[in-house]
Amino acid sequence: MNLCIKISSFALVFLFSQFSQAEATMFRDVVHPHTNQKLSKNDWRNESRAMDTFIDDLLSKMTLDEKIGQLDLQSGYRGVTGPFVNAAYEQQIRNGSVGAIFNAYGAQFGKRLQTIAVEQTRLGIPIIIGHDVIHGHKTIFPQSIGEAASWDLDAIKHSARIAAKEASADGIMWTFAPMADMVRDPRWGRVSESAGEDPFLTSAVSVARVKGFQGENISLNDTIMATAKHFVGYGASQGGRDYNTTDISENRLWNLYLPPFKAMLDAGVTTFMTGFNDLNGIPVTANQYLLETVLRDKWGFKGFVVTDYTAVNELVAHGYARDEKHGAQIAFNSGADMDMVGQTYLKYLKPLIAENKVTEARLNEAVRRVLEMKWRLGLFEDPYRYHDESRAAQRILTKENLEAATDMARRSMVLLKNQNQALPIDSNKVDSIALIGPLADNRFDMIGNWAGAGNRDSQPVTVREGLSNLLDDKVKIRYAKGATHSYLLSHTGMSSLMGIDVPVSGQTKQDLQSDIDEALKIAKASDVVVMVLGEDQRMSGEASSRTELTLPGNQQALMEALRSLNKPLILVVMSGRPNDLRWADSNVDAILHAWYPGTMGGQAVADVLLGKYNPAGKLPMTFPRTVGQVPLFYNHKNTGRPIASSNPAHTPAEYTSRYDDSLNTPLYAFGHGLSYTQFKYDAPTLSSTRLDQNGELTLTVKVTNIGDRAGEEVIQLYTHQKVGSITRPVKELKGFQKLAFEVGETKTVAFTLTPDDLAFYRADMSWGTEPGEFEVMVGGASNKVQTLTFTLVD
Ligand code: NOJ
Repeated sequence: MNLCIKISSFALVFLFSQFSQAEATMFRDVVHPHTNQKLSKNDWRNESRAMDTFIDDLLSKMTLDEKIGQLDLQSGYRGVTGPFVNAAYEQQIRNGSVGAIFNAYGAQFGKRLQTIAVEQTRLGIPIIIGHDVIHGHKTIFPQSIGEAASWDLDAIKHSARIAAKEASADGIMWTFAPMADMVRDPRWGRVSESAGEDPFLTSAVSVARVKGFQGENISLNDTIMATAKHFVGYGASQGGRDYNTTDISENRLWNLYLPPFKAMLDAGVTTFMTGFNDLNGIPVTANQYLLETVLRDKWGFKGFVVTDYTAVNELVAHGYARDEKHGAQIAFNSGADMDMVGQTYLKYLKPLIAENKVTEARLNEAVRRVLEMKWRLGLFEDPYRYHDESRAAQRILTKENLEAATDMARRSMVLLKNQNQALPIDSNKVDSIALIGPLADNRFDMIGNWAGAGNRDSQPVTVREGLSNLLDDKVKIRYAKGATHSYLLSHTGMSSLMGIDVPVSGQTKQDLQSDIDEALKIAKASDVVVMVLGEDQRMSGEASSRTELTLPGNQQALMEALRSLNKPLILVVMSGRPNDLRWADSNVDAILHAWYPGTMGGQAVADVLLGKYNPAGKLPMTFPRTVGQVPLFYNHKNTGRPIASSNPAHTPAEYTSRYDDSLNTPLYAFGHGLSYTQFKYDAPTLSSTRLDQNGELTLTVKVTNIGDRAGEEVIQLYTHQKVGSITRPVKELKGFQKLAFEVGETKTVAFTLTPDDLAFYRADMSWGTEPGEFEVMVGGASNKVQTLTFTLVD
């Protein structure tokens, strides 16, 4: 697939700090009812007079209770995603005190709930039905981080489009995705739900997802509203521990964490979700600066903001609200329009209005935003437009959807190591394969976490099945589980791989050894050994942080035992995060990272192992050597005492920024990923060594496929501003192109660079460029680049 991002147009996304003269004349002279500030953007309500008239009329008929009910989001019981579920939600819909519900998918079930809202409430206002459709609804695509590893925006958009088609046929009209939290700490379980550590890639991937979910127009009944989450900074949870405090400097917030959200907003995302996190001392759910000043006043967001699950109630535990009533007051007054699950608005907004602590104008504003979305979804026209069971039967888990899932899974895989071309396995040259590991014949974990309404028991194709589908009887597959991939010990000491006394899995030391013995037996009898190891999918996702990145259970012991046989040893890793693969990197012949590859994952892995597909994925997140290096990311600063890049072993060692017991470099860098073929980069050239403020530069590089099979390569462009008013990262991704090459084919690849691509929030927090010397780098990974220099002139 040919894919190209034009960096100069992409950079427009970031040009939001200054409004143009033309825009300024369009501003309406409207005072914000809550903040008393002048509204800074033209109000999109004027787009539709019919909608305005309808909502004005409806609002005039609504009681205070009915209005407050619109701001309440309840959870049903289908795939519960938090600690509290309200069993009385059906009755509450009937009372008119539910505006939206989630965890309630299914065309028939949704229709029943919608019927209550439409036929049994006084005003018959339909409800919005949401769900966490993160990487597929029933056809499950690879875990989000795996999709990002494809660097294939068309495929990612297509995956979200299919998810929306399935979900909207199954009663859903709203998803809580994309998660655009930037991540730098693989201990945090939610890195699996992210697009990795880079703001440019995260922006591009998130925009592709928004476009896929929302399609051309959310009024079409095969599209769903997307949610930009978690606004903002949740990915910086200290120590990688979920829900933990975040502390992000203003500069870092604006240069790194906010851009993906602005990009989604510009792409038309309809809702935002606040995070659980305390950011610089103010929990984001009650952060007026973020929710009003940034989101509404500076950016002009017109949709509604929903809190995360019980995040308003949690303001009390944060120590930011005295009690839940106070929490409701400050969250609502700060701009959080809808309360997820916690029912604080339901309980307290009415008394708060009576006490003049919340204005009716603010209430009307929030209710209007929710009603506008209901209008735009077409719910007032036809509340049952997402509840046609025949559509569900036609649209879900179709052959076409499953093929797209196979395609996306193959695209997501990253070949981390391939010594002596151990992969692909040539089925004409081997008689037998030992397929070993707890994830080799496993359906449950295949679809990962946040797997929508995906079936884990019978639907996913396992690696064992995938290989059998491709191999005829001439190649024998022998299978053994070999090890467990779950924690072996209860919480105290679960990091220890050895010395197992009371395994939580219920297995004794003897059981574990006999699993290894069984694996050794089949490995001895086979020509090549393929291990499919990794993490139990429950170790990733929400509330799933780890202190170690090693492969859990007794998988290390299994690998070591198998290595002793000196057979060709292949490792396939399934996991939602970068793991510590040091031992494997030094001891196995090839490593393929498959993330959690989804419903068709086993087929996709088999296609790659046997060379039916040539992998082209690139890491969206750095793989450290050891957890002790965390946080480790490619776009770091240089420090005053950097080690010389020409001397990574940093000798002599004194007084440089380094570790005594590890290299600074990662095990696998951001952007790294091998292919079964090889690409040669010629020396790049620049159209000029000078860039004017109104000009542009073109970097050109010839790339040739010098291997013996066709393949794809992601050509990456980075820049570095040598001196700045604040210190600048050593590299920043500014563009990429994923291109297909036939054997022997050369392509001339051009990237256009304009000053916009070099703009950033400067020391005084203004947006713009700074003249001076720049490096521009191009290559196939962040640590495999060729560098040129140019000057940006005033
Ligand atoms: C909590 C998670 O943080 C959020 O991402 C998710 O959308 C909600 N639960 C609803 O399941």
